[in-house]
Amino acid sequence: MRKVYIGLLGCGTVGTGVARILLEKKELIRKRVGVELILERVADIDIETDRGVRFDPGVLTTDAGTVLTDPRIDIVLEMIGGEGIARKFILEAIENGKHIVTANKALLARQGNAIMKAASEKGVDLAYEASCGGCMPIIKTIRESMVGNRIESMMGILNGTCNYILTKITADGSSFEDALAEAKAKGYAEADPTLDVEGLDTAHKLAIMTAITSGMAINFDDIYIEGISKITPLDIQFAEQFGYTIKLLAISKNRGDAVESRVHPTMLPQGNLMSNVSGALNALMITGDATGEMMLNGHGAGMMPTASAVVSDIVDIARNIVFGHPGRVPIFSYQPEHIQTIPVLPIDEIETHYYFRFAALDQPGVLSKISGVLGRYGISLKSVHQKGRETRGAVPIVMFSHLAKEANMKRAMAEIADLDVVADQPMVIRIEDEEGD
Ligand code: HSE
Repeated sequence: MRKVYIGLLGCGTVGTGVARILLEKKELIRKRVGVELILERVADIDIETDRGVRFDPGVLTTDAGTVLTDPRIDIVLEMIGGEGIARKFILEAIENGKHIVTANKALLARQGNAIMKAASEKGVDLAYEASCGGCMPIIKTIRESMVGNRIESMMGILNGTCNYILTKITADGSSFEDALAEAKAKGYAEADPTLDVEGLDTAHKLAIMTAITSGMAINFDDIYIEGISKITPLDIQFAEQFGYTIKLLAISKNRGDAVESRVHPTMLPQGNLMSNVSGALNALMITGDATGEMMLNGHGAGMMPTASAVVSDIVDIARNIVFGHPGRVPIFSYQPEHIQTIPVLPIDEIETHYYFRFAALDQPGVLSKISGVLGRYGISLKSVHQKGRETRGAVPIVMFSHLAKEANMKRAMAEIADLDVVADQPMVIRIEDEEGD
């Protein structure tokens, strides 16, 4: 039976999960794939800690060089993370003719174009299913299942930590800090959790996904990014009262000669399927011109779900090797010569619905001052609510707008913040609502 040899770089949470599947499910994989996958070498700086996995003698090493240069190794798994040493090892492995599997979304979002070019030129596969949405087959769906579609839009919950925090605050009134501590303890959060809560981790994934849906070079820098740290329990309560749920969404829309690519807290109507994706679960709603709407839902983080995606990449590459067809599916979904530079629409040019919350003095004429400013910027209101009576000198006034342009919204908010009857900065949350204008 044909054997494919694998070298693993980094035996942390995901690496350990991958080793576990490769060793414990060897027979199952052999029966399904017709290939024997051999975990030849595992390199990590720590080879003493018991990971609960029984490696054959000589497999564990502290020397990554023995993975990168071993001529027997066909596929190198980069499970180190970060952008420094991981990039160096990947490029070295490509240079040595190894196929690559990585879960490193930050590296791909920021340096993926150069890495893809190196892999394509060398004729090796670069697979990265685990970089976006854990176990959900997002990359396979976009690159293979939807290959005959023009992809119109994507809306994703792509960060388990943020979804866990928002769900906990909504469900039991937990504080932001407690909910984040729990997400960390459960192993969802990044080593630096500001990447999660400030939306960067979601944006890394969106950069990759937008590129492969639209045939553009990865463009992380132009994504609009706003995290969940400014969302207050009061806004979560109001969202619920008015029939919405707040989610951190990654949104990508095909706008013809440009794309929308943005990450921000978003209110979704409670009837929307995505609004019911709770806890650490992730989901993606993707719309193709042939498929219509499709939804994927599953664990976006955690050892075994992420390891499952890595193993699916290994098997794809092993099949390519066995049948002599590396490069069968282009790395970024389009043949490299057809990848274009497509601009990301500046956030000021998008149009959406808005939720506004103002802390206003409970005085006659306040509402007309606020709505006067909104009117001057062409922002028409769907509904206005004053919630409760005076607390600390101000009352919350909640407004929902019809479709409005972001640039106008920002100018209006700046003027309203300066009104003497308004205390504090206004709170603005975008709404994704297919219904109405
Ligand atoms: N920190 C990420 C999350 C891990 O919370 O979803 C998976 O990318």
